[in-house]
Amino acid sequence: MTSLLLSLVAGGAALASSAVAAELPQGRILVAYFSRSGNTRTVAGQVRRALRADLFEILPENPYPDDYFETVEQAQQETERGYEPPLKETVADIGAYGTVFLGFPIWGTTAPPVIRSFLSAHDLSSKTLVPLVTHGGYGLGDSREVLAQIAPAARLVEGFTMEGPQERQTIEQVMEWLDRLDAR
Ligand SMILES: Cc1cc2nc3c(=O)[nH]c(=O)nc-3n(C[C@H](O)[C@H](O)[C@H](O)COP(=O)(O)O)c2cc1C
Repeated sequence: MTSLLLSLVAGGAALASSAVAAELPQGRILVAYFSRSGNTRTVAGQVRRALRADLFEILPENPYPDDYFETVEQAQQETERGYEPPLKETVADIGAYGTVFLGFPIWGTTAPPVIRSFLSAHDLSSKTLVPLVTHGGYGLGDSREVLAQIAPAARLVEGFTMEGPQERQTIEQVMEWLDRLDAR
């Protein structure tokens, strides 16, 4: 376990400090993640492959809109009123895992509402909880506090953080190009 984690670090991805790696317990590993535009999915998939972990995609029962701006609006409203959207599925046997890697993007300077749903729906007491966070350049916000608050009995370790491409910028660049094409 430790050597696998260290080899990930050596591979250029600062997944966890060696101190954190040494702390990971024996036992089954789950990588649970939520991703809209794919950045966090790539991180989660890599961790899953490297550690031969089980993978679980966190999905809301009612999918978010395809439209980015509608999603931003909906997420903001949900976050403001502390809404936890129902999950499409829960992890069948969460008790079997000693370590849970939890992957998510930063939404509105915090963890997405569906991540709060996931934490509320699963008992992570005494498990090692390793955040895998991607953001668009504004950092972790209060996401770590959210994890600590909703899963207070989990052993929250440092985890991995990375800036990823922002869907907003991609949309803007594509729209600029389309405007220049004058094809619409
Ligand atoms: C609804 C929404 C809100 C976002 N809010 C933030 C934010 O507050 N700070 C930030 O740095 N990035 C923000 N982003 C950008 C994402 O965190 C970033 O692009 C992330 O890597 C996307 O991960 P994904 O591809 O796994 O969905 C937001 C993206 C979306 C869709």
